[in-house]
Amino acid sequence: MQKVSVRLGSNSYNIHIGPGLLAQTGQKLKEIGFSGKLVIITDPTVKRLYGNSLQQSLAGSGFEVLIIEVPEGEEQKSLETAGKLYHELTDVYTERTTPILALGGGVIGDLAGFVAATYMRGVPLIQIPTTLLAQGDSSIGGKVAVNHGQLKNKIGAFYHPRLTISDISTLKTLSTRELSDGLAEIIKHGVIQDREFFSYLEENLAKIKSLDEPVLERVISHSAEIKVGVVEKDELDLGLRNILNYGHTVGHAIETVSELKVWHGEAVAIGMLAEARIANKLGVLDQSETVRLKNLIATAGLPTRLPGLQLEKLIQAMKHDKKILQGKIRFVLPKSIGEVFITEEVSQSIIEQALQDEND
Ligand SMILES: NC(=O)c1ccc[n+]([C@@H]2O[C@H](COP(=O)([O-])OP(=O)(O)OC[C@H]3O[C@@H](n4cnc5c(N)ncnc54)[C@H](O)[C@@H]3O)[C@@H](O)[C@H]2O)c1
Repeated sequence: MQKVSVRLGSNSYNIHIGPGLLAQTGQKLKEIGFSGKLVIITDPTVKRLYGNSLQQSLAGSGFEVLIIEVPEGEEQKSLETAGKLYHELTDVYTERTTPILALGGGVIGDLAGFVAATYMRGVPLIQIPTTLLAQGDSSIGGKVAVNHGQLKNKIGAFYHPRLTISDISTLKTLSTRELSDGLAEIIKHGVIQDREFFSYLEENLAKIKSLDEPVLERVISHSAEIKVGVVEKDELDLGLRNILNYGHTVGHAIETVSELKVWHGEAVAIGMLAEARIANKLGVLDQSETVRLKNLIATAGLPTRLPGLQLEKLIQAMKHDKKILQGKIRFVLPKSIGEVFITEEVSQSIIEQALQDEND
């Protein structure tokens, strides 16, 4: 097992990453001082697959468990679902010390995290991510949120868990598409800060895809360490944390215009490549680096091409994105694999060329 420590003063906590950790959850919660009641929020698929083993571990350590199920899907990240959860929680809560365990992918992590952050002005949160996207990225950094109308992830808070348990054995039941989707943000962490990690991913991709446990444990813990390092320096997203948005200016536009048919990681993968091409056209990134990125994205099973979306709609969506400053679109661009910079100085024609260009 790997342990990644998140040092944020009174919000500090540990992330445990390894195989078979669900069975140790009860004991780990006792070790950090919890006892008595707790609430698990999960979805039907994850409950069916992992609900029993988690409940057994918790009951074995003397916890009294209430499990609440939320239907699957991004549309559940809403104030309406949060409202239903508040309602169910009123039957359980007599005191604010009862923790909420978010068992599932990024949707459950964001939704249950938002509920934990707001119910009774905050109750303890434990993240138990079960997708690669959630273990390698979304459960880290304390951003919890719901969507509201056109506002994606904009009703939320910074709220850190007391403990995160990433049981890599749970990844065995993901589909190939879900596994690939989770690799995009992990690749991103290599591009923004760690060239050596990027090379490690290139060399070990076959083992990652075949779910080799030692390799997965190393990849997820290193991905977590990179994100944690950034979050520790800029917890509230006022500066450095922007670099985590590499691939997201174009990526969010693709998600919006495709009406979420293109998944988050897939959209970020296409976005990373388009933004690398922008850097290339600006003369700051060598062509050979773009080719390396394209090869890794393709080998990871992620798309490298725009899925037939209208250019105008994409540019329009980018202009409506939160990363816009005084009418200019803000980009995080690579100088090389392992180093990025932030700029608002990219002309619309370069953006259009980069989106259309598919010949690296
Ligand atoms: N908070 C952040 O910093 C942050 C960062 C990136 C993405 N996100 C959010 O993450 C969400 C996407 O998360 P996701 O990709 O994990 O999707 P998801 O949570 O919708 O999960 C995808 C599907 O996988 C199923 N599933 C989960 N674990 C499984 C397992 N082990 N085996 C089999 N099936 C399993 C779920 O039931 C669900 O149907 C989006 O809402 C996005 O906005 C948040």
